[in-house]
Amino acid sequence: MDGNGRWAQARGYPRVFGHIRGATRVRPIVREADSLGIKALTLYAFSTENWLRSESELSILWKLLKKYFQKELNELKQKNIRLNIIGELERLPLAIQETVNPMLNELAGNTGLQFNLAISYGSRREISQAASYFAKDCLTGIHQPLDMNEELFQKYLTTNKLKELSDVDLVIRTSGEKRVSNFLLWQSAYAEYVFTDTYWPDYTPKHFREALFEYSQRERRYGKVKVYNNELNTL
Ligand code: IPE
Ligand code: MG
Repeated sequence: MDGNGRWAQARGYPRVFGHIRGATRVRPIVREADSLGIKALTLYAFSTENWLRSESELSILWKLLKKYFQKELNELKQKNIRLNIIGELERLPLAIQETVNPMLNELAGNTGLQFNLAISYGSRREISQAASYFAKDCLTGIHQPLDMNEELFQKYLTTNKLKELSDVDLVIRTSGEKRVSNFLLWQSAYAEYVFTDTYWPDYTPKHFREALFEYSQRERRYGKVKVYNNELNTL
């Protein structure tokens, strides 16, 4: 969800206005994903690198997050949406954790859309942490170093709870930036990417559907070659 600050600055407002407006864009996208039957949606709200921003910007972001949860809980419940946080929730101010944790518990049993909010999330951190969890399991004898393979490694990632949904199909980046910025690096190994110049505060379900349409036109080969019908006939 990129481009909040630039959206505000382009209008002569302070950056936080962009965050306020950006926060209101989440609900329509979650609703759209839910009504289209998408199985998992992850929104990258705050990265491990975003901690370097000013105290005043951070405090607005936490307030918005708290407000978002308070406003949306009923709808998330009613729509059977399962909300997970991926990232270091424990690094957030205590008051925010105390608001968010009970709400996450209330949604934990839901079975509909898997809605992940990446907060204080960094993929390198997630991956290096997975390595240390595995090393610990080797020390306690649960595993041997040579047990390691891709499938097992995946089990140590925070997205493991999503099971078959932990592999990302499509990554959408808003605001014209064309980089990955430490987002789900392992899980996106074979993801398709759609980049849009639209700033997140202007992002609508229509943009989202356009990205999905673009995705539907892609041919995913996973490193293999396409077999054409006429080639099949000659086999
Ligand atoms: C994305 O908007 C929201 C957060 C990272 C919290 P930015 O704040 O990154 O906006 P720009 O990139 O400065 O425009
Ligand atoms: Mg940005």
